[in-house]
Amino acid sequence: MEKLGVALVGAGFAANFHVRGWVGVRGADIVAVYSRTEARAKELAALAERLGVGKPKVYTNIFDMLRDKSVNAVWILSPNYTRLEIVRAIAEEARQGRGNLVGVACEKPLARNVKEAREMLNLVEKAGLLHGYLENQVFMPSVMRGKEIVWKYGAKYSGRPYMARAAEEHGGPHAPWFWRPTLSGGGVLLDMMCHSLEASRYVLWDPEKGKESIKPRKVWGEVASLKWTRKGYVEKLKQTYGADYTVEPAEDYATAVVLYEDEEGNVALTETHTSWSFIGAGLRLTFEVLGPEYSLWINTLQPELFVFFSRHVKIPPSEEFVEKQNAEQGLMPVLPDEAITYGYQAEDRYMVECFKKGTMPFENWHDGLLIVQLMMLAYLSAERGQKLNFDPALVEDYIPPVQKGAWNPKSPIL
Ligand SMILES: NC(=O)c1ccc[n+]([C@@H]2O[C@H](COP(=O)([O-])OP(=O)(O)OC[C@H]3O[C@@H](n4cnc5c(N)ncnc54)[C@H](OP(=O)(O)O)[C@@H]3O)[C@@H](O)[C@H]2O)c1
Repeated sequence: MEKLGVALVGAGFAANFHVRGWVGVRGADIVAVYSRTEARAKELAALAERLGVGKPKVYTNIFDMLRDKSVNAVWILSPNYTRLEIVRAIAEEARQGRGNLVGVACEKPLARNVKEAREMLNLVEKAGLLHGYLENQVFMPSVMRGKEIVWKYGAKYSGRPYMARAAEEHGGPHAPWFWRPTLSGGGVLLDMMCHSLEASRYVLWDPEKGKESIKPRKVWGEVASLKWTRKGYVEKLKQTYGADYTVEPAEDYATAVVLYEDEEGNVALTETHTSWSFIGAGLRLTFEVLGPEYSLWINTLQPELFVFFSRHVKIPPSEEFVEKQNAEQGLMPVLPDEAITYGYQAEDRYMVECFKKGTMPFENWHDGLLIVQLMMLAYLSAERGQKLNFDPALVEDYIPPVQKGAWNPKSPIL
């Protein structure tokens, strides 16, 4: 296959990042955009054309898109609650031998709970499709290069890393559906801890021995509403996103520890923190890796570029300098190309290479499922106030209270 034809499902925030990052992807064009609102899909298609990454046809019927012979792979970039329906359509079309599909890639989180994740995985495997899990933080150039250096030098000369810390924090998501946990599946734990859990696991496994060289053994977590159930903020949420946190609240802070056991029986652990209650310059991704004689750290709000605007410069609210930007004055970090820094470009380049070669990506839906299991165990641990064994059976049918619209934000102190 000379060029892979890629179709995007969804034309929102995440889809925009993928299109912007596509300028560094070789051997694949974006040939189709399917979404709910035609105008928005057309806008995204026009952006792709402007950037020279394809001349996508716009579809509002998924079956028409899947039967388009130029479509070889689908990137699922629509909201969490649309996943199953879309994967069922893809798998059915592929099973019936319609269209020309070889692979499907899906944004984080793979699903809202284990049951959904497992069904998605079974469907694509039965349909014989390759599957990639779009966990961009694993593909961040700083994370990938950091892992390489840690293992090439630190681990080789002083022993394997024993701890990874990862945090993703910002002031809250951009679209109403994220704020409805019965729709999205949860609060910040589901939305963002998926990133931190997978990126921290990634740096800890030995590249020569593979992912299986560390096994999760214990999980504990806590969730809290620190900001958005406060009086003024409940009102703000109602006005901005139509979400009522007096009726259906979700956590805006979560923390979890996962204890892994390495191949020699040593403990290695990940500490992850996520919040929708962090106000700084904008989205902040931080990582640390600790080993016997070394450490590594990353902070995306300490880039190479800063600007300073005095009080006499008043520009309108913008997210031009950094995702979830909170201010337009003073000293501000600027990320020259977020699609590169956050890993979208590298993950898309990698997924394209795999689908073209017919190989299963190393980051695939089995990893997506594991991360859903870890998140559900973190929710269950918080609900029970207990440290839990990594026992997938505990969460096979588990739906966290927040997903049922039954979470009590006071529960952490009761
Ligand atoms: N990797 C990351 O860091 C990252 C960042 C952001 C989001 N994400 C993930 O990406 C996914 C999308 O999030 P987002 O922020 O892009 O959301 P968004 O900005 O709300 O965009 C969602 C897009 O999907 C479309 N859509 C809604 N229902 C659909 C359906 N049934 N079929 C097809 N398209 C549908 C929406 O249509 P309308 O235009 O009509 O609304 C919109 O174009 C989520 O799973 C999220 O977790 C990942």
